[in-house]
Amino acid sequence: PLVNMSVMLNKAKQGKYAVGQFNINNLEWTQAILEAAEEKQSPVILGVSEGAARYMGGFYTIVNIVEGLLVDMNITVPVAIHLDHGSSYEKCVEAIEGGFTSVMIDASHDPVEQNIETTSKVVEYAHSHGVSVEAELGTVGGQEDDVIGDVMYADKDECVELVKQTGIDCLAPALGSVHGPYKGEPNLGFKEMEEIKNATNTPLVLHGGTGIPDEQIKRAIDCGTCKINVNTENQIEWTKVTRQVLENDKDVYDPRKVIGPGKKAITEVVKTKIEVFGSAGKA
Ligand code: G3H
Ligand code: ZN
Repeated sequence: PLVNMSVMLNKAKQGKYAVGQFNINNLEWTQAILEAAEEKQSPVILGVSEGAARYMGGFYTIVNIVEGLLVDMNITVPVAIHLDHGSSYEKCVEAIEGGFTSVMIDASHDPVEQNIETTSKVVEYAHSHGVSVEAELGTVGGQEDDVIGDVMYADKDECVELVKQTGIDCLAPALGSVHGPYKGEPNLGFKEMEEIKNATNTPLVLHGGTGIPDEQIKRAIDCGTCKINVNTENQIEWTKVTRQVLENDKDVYDPRKVIGPGKKAITEVVKTKIEVFGSAGKA
């Protein structure tokens, strides 16, 4: 069923595991991720960036695709549709009006007072509609669609203030993670992560899940991470397969034969992540 993130993340916090957010781009992506979650009996969060929402036709279309698949695929595990890196209050409202069950308001580029003010407004609107909210402090490195940044650590006291004043459901404190591939080993601020967990007592979110070694993922979960976002890895694996299909068969033109086979690769990535995150069997 379609749900918000609040119950799944609080259960994850209690049970010391993390729920994966996997970003979607189209119908095939959505099918592949739902298939993996159902097979692993894991809750799952479908992440949608503003760019992906534009690409797929809009929030309402996406919600209808997901709702259709939940029925046609007999999906029984909890599924949230989450706006990833929402850029404004208005965008969050638009997503909620379209039927999204969860939103991220990313006002991390603003001064903290303004971040708190915008986030509070989003929480007020979202919670009155049964929708969960994620907020961010600090800066995630790398690039994802329109979100570009140089790593800047979140400040613990600001995290405490933001959580206290806004009532968000989960917090993404940037602590060295990067969107897209890492240059070398990721260098995450686990000490700071644990301090922020203890100071805020709120489920933490780890962005930039692609390329983080399993031991570091487990350590992040130990330090309070309850949600991990993965996007690039699925894109890379899907593209590998698709490229091979085209190279192996120069005559192929049926779109289903071109873009279909990559679905399996996404399902495999997601199943593997679900195992590492510890959310298998937690539906
Ligand atoms: O918001 C989405 C994520 O943080 C994805 O990061 O593309 O590096 O896996 P990634
Ligand atoms: Zn992100």
